[in-house]
Amino acid sequence: MKRKPFLFLLLAISLGIASNAAEPVKLQSPDGQLELKFEVVDGIPQYSLDRAGTPVVLPSKMGFTLEWRDDLAHAFVLKDTKYDTFDETWEPVWGEEAQIQNHYNEMLVTLEQPVGSVESMDHSTEKKATVMQIRFRLYDDGLGFRYEFPMENALVYFWIKEELTEFAMTGDHKAWWIPGDYDTQEFNYTESRLSEIRTLFDESHKDGGWPWKGFSPTGVQTALQMKTDDGLYLNIHEAATLDYPTMHLELDDKNMVFRAHLSPDATGYKGRIQAPCTTPWRTIMVTTSATDALASRLILNLNEPCALEDVSWIHPVKYMGVWWEMISGKSSWAYTNDFPSVKLGETDYAHATPNGTHGANNANVRRYIDFAAANGFDALLIEGWNIGWEDWYAKQKDFVFDFLTPYPDFDLPGLNKYAHEKGIRLIMHHESSASTVNYERWMEKAYTLMNQYGYDAVKGGYVGTIIPFGEGHYSQPINNHYHYAIVEAAKHHIMVNSHEAVRPTGLCRTWPNMIGNESAMGTEFRERIKPGHTTILPFTRLQGGPMDYTPGIFETDMGKIVSWGGKMRTTICNQLGLYVTFYSPLQMAADFPEHYAQFMDAFQFIKDVAVDWDKSLYLMAEPGDYIVTARHPKLSTLNKAAEGVGTLSDGKKGVVSNTTKFVYDLPDDATIEDLWHAEAHDVWYVGGITDENAREVTVKLDFLKPGVKYEVTIYADAENASGIPDEHYNAQDYTITKKTVTSKSVLKLRMAPCGGFAVSLRSL
Ligand code: NOJ
Ligand code: CA
Repeated sequence: MKRKPFLFLLLAISLGIASNAAEPVKLQSPDGQLELKFEVVDGIPQYSLDRAGTPVVLPSKMGFTLEWRDDLAHAFVLKDTKYDTFDETWEPVWGEEAQIQNHYNEMLVTLEQPVGSVESMDHSTEKKATVMQIRFRLYDDGLGFRYEFPMENALVYFWIKEELTEFAMTGDHKAWWIPGDYDTQEFNYTESRLSEIRTLFDESHKDGGWPWKGFSPTGVQTALQMKTDDGLYLNIHEAATLDYPTMHLELDDKNMVFRAHLSPDATGYKGRIQAPCTTPWRTIMVTTSATDALASRLILNLNEPCALEDVSWIHPVKYMGVWWEMISGKSSWAYTNDFPSVKLGETDYAHATPNGTHGANNANVRRYIDFAAANGFDALLIEGWNIGWEDWYAKQKDFVFDFLTPYPDFDLPGLNKYAHEKGIRLIMHHESSASTVNYERWMEKAYTLMNQYGYDAVKGGYVGTIIPFGEGHYSQPINNHYHYAIVEAAKHHIMVNSHEAVRPTGLCRTWPNMIGNESAMGTEFRERIKPGHTTILPFTRLQGGPMDYTPGIFETDMGKIVSWGGKMRTTICNQLGLYVTFYSPLQMAADFPEHYAQFMDAFQFIKDVAVDWDKSLYLMAEPGDYIVTARHPKLSTLNKAAEGVGTLSDGKKGVVSNTTKFVYDLPDDATIEDLWHAEAHDVWYVGGITDENAREVTVKLDFLKPGVKYEVTIYADAENASGIPDEHYNAQDYTITKKTVTSKSVLKLRMAPCGGFAVSLRSL
């Protein structure tokens, strides 16, 4: 649209606004270290961020290009600035700590494109000013800002062509990045300088998820972790992404300026907006150490408080699954090989020939239930239970599943009863095959079926090309679908763990039934996962919420399961370390019962470890290299899942989970009555993981209660252990040591290449 600079100049003069003359408005973090500056330069809003007087983000432009009217990119005047401060402590339903401090200083700037200074197709700008506000929240560990559009405005309904937010970096920082993509986040990370992204981009796409659709050779995803040459850790991400597309970043690698690149919808628009509304928060975390980055709760704090009144039905879950059998290639999701094409309602499964490899059959499921129950787990996931898996993959099929009809060899009522009698809940599986329209058609019935049989958690999946066709996995309409699934599930008291859904942005604070997401490269990628991958994810993907990474692989040589399998770059102790270094209230022991049976002494750690915490300490970390974390279990949620099974009419009463037995030092056959009379011991867990480099770390136990003796159990890589897949591959060699320690003790722990360690500490 044609601009009217002359008219704007007249207006500016009449309003007494000299575009360059005004001083920037400023905001400081509560500790005074971070300073934000905002100003309007030649009608363009821009911000910058300093730490201790040194620039962290150089002047960066803000705004939008729009359809049907002049852009929100020029002709702005600053009308008003309001300040506020906020300090509260809130308690998450589950999390890395029992209490989180949310302390920030706030500045709200109101910007206007005055009447007549811009043009619009509907002539609204001739009658009213266009109002855009920007709300900045400055924390000690970073900045969040979002755009807000009040109702009283020339701009009520509008279509975004692009968001113009910039993040101008001060140099050629080191970064841990995955390529920008409209359809998958399942990539290995590349560690490089920003200037190297362009040349490494094609390589970065290798071995990733499918389908994939890059948009620029310098496009990257958030959360993007960076480190400056001065040792500052910077992280760009977003918070509370609702009814809006996901933000990617595109780097101008001459100037080291990132620009927002929103995920388009099927028609190419990047957000259809209706005022009054706000955009998601754009976040820049700034910390002086890697461990402070892991401790940051910036993203959660920028989300709204819990939207649910009753959260009593939400609980942490430690689970096993009829799952790795299919992922590793040993078993199939499909029941029969009779049909190259399946039509639900027409295909006659009752007379089909079983293929003999169907994992979700009654006998096999019972075997897993028995093992999970005997070892004190909460739940069991079963995939491939429902008809339709014969042609589920890569067919772009709309009506792919009904989420209701079990295969002939899966006795849904009978297996649930069997599980509940043993104190185990079954976890439902809804693979949508990315047909969001089909899933929405069946969702209410599918959730009702879950309620009928006592399933209280569902694993969702979005593999493949999104239907409606033309949408990507992270556009506004599809982000709305994921949210719809969460909200509808909450009405049914169902907890959700979505795979392939959009990377989380802290919405689990508001909707704590969102207990997991995959949304990154997880264990299913097996031998394709690079060393160090799991030392990066807590800095990036996990900033937005927990990940269902599915750790716990003890048979790390996939070649022992199928002829085409390779060796995973990990060791058993590396797998154990993940239970502490990765936070998730939903944590899986992913391997087969028969593999655990060979290493029951190491499996003991998975049995004992908690999955929800009242305190977390990040002892040592460097992205791409290593992480060492210590965590203290939250007693109030310890046995919640088992209690839930007890409330089912067909459920076994008084089940005690194995973690509870460990914390209260109860015998294997302990009952709930024993628990009533027992006292909790003081328990800590410490986990460590490393990349391809062996490392020795010294862990001071000064976080233990002074003057108290603890029994420590150390699960460590053996001297010759190695997770590097060469002739020295030795992933299953470990030692287990027990001794007595106090808060004055120091542990020296060695991690093998691709290895790790796990430690449990219980007061005597
Ligand atoms: C991909 C998921 O990440 C995996 O966990 C699941 O088993 C398959 N899709 C099938 O739904
Ligand atoms: Ca996946």
